[in-house]
Amino acid sequence: IKTAVFISGTGSNLKNLIKFSKIKNSPISIDLIISNTSKAKGLSFANQFSIKKYVSSFKNHKTAETKILNLLKKENIKFICLAGFMRILSRSFIKKFRGKIINIHPSLLPKYKGLDTHIKAIQNKDKLAGCTVHLVTTKLDSGKIILQKVVKISKKDTSTSLAKKVLKQEHKLYPAAIKKIFN
Ligand code: GRF
Repeated sequence: IKTAVFISGTGSNLKNLIKFSKIKNSPISIDLIISNTSKAKGLSFANQFSIKKYVSSFKNHKTAETKILNLLKKENIKFICLAGFMRILSRSFIKKFRGKIINIHPSLLPKYKGLDTHIKAIQNKDKLAGCTVHLVTTKLDSGKIILQKVVKISKKDTSTSLAKKVLKQEHKLYPAAIKKIFN
């Protein structure tokens, strides 16, 4: 299944998905990387693994999405993984890929939608944190949950150390969720 990954930053999940796409019997191939900023470190994986990339600032959201939709069509992309993508896709975009866009979120949804999930978990003295892979719908971080992984918060944890711990689990969870969808 030809897949596009949308990123905005480091791209550790992207790198991990590329690795996953290359193992035997992987259901996906990564054929396109989209970023909303040329500063995204993760774009370097496009060069490293010879994957097509496209950058759009999304200054004009509608124009950006039209361009991306054309590109997805041209490249015959059938599945989209959001991985740290910091733009909200429009209702019409999501409808065109209904059920075919998934996202990874660093919390145990429905808890802590949106930003700063680790800060909120620490401030609220939660004992458990985690990550979720879910279907992308028109409501932010609210689509059907595919898989979740729980991470214990220790007394010593800061939002930074927690983010690290959760990210490690994200790298296991995202491929597992994709396997669950396609196998
Ligand atoms: C991850 O924690 C992801 O859950 C969140 O943004 C972060 C992206 O990290 N949405 P990376 O760019 O994949 O390293």
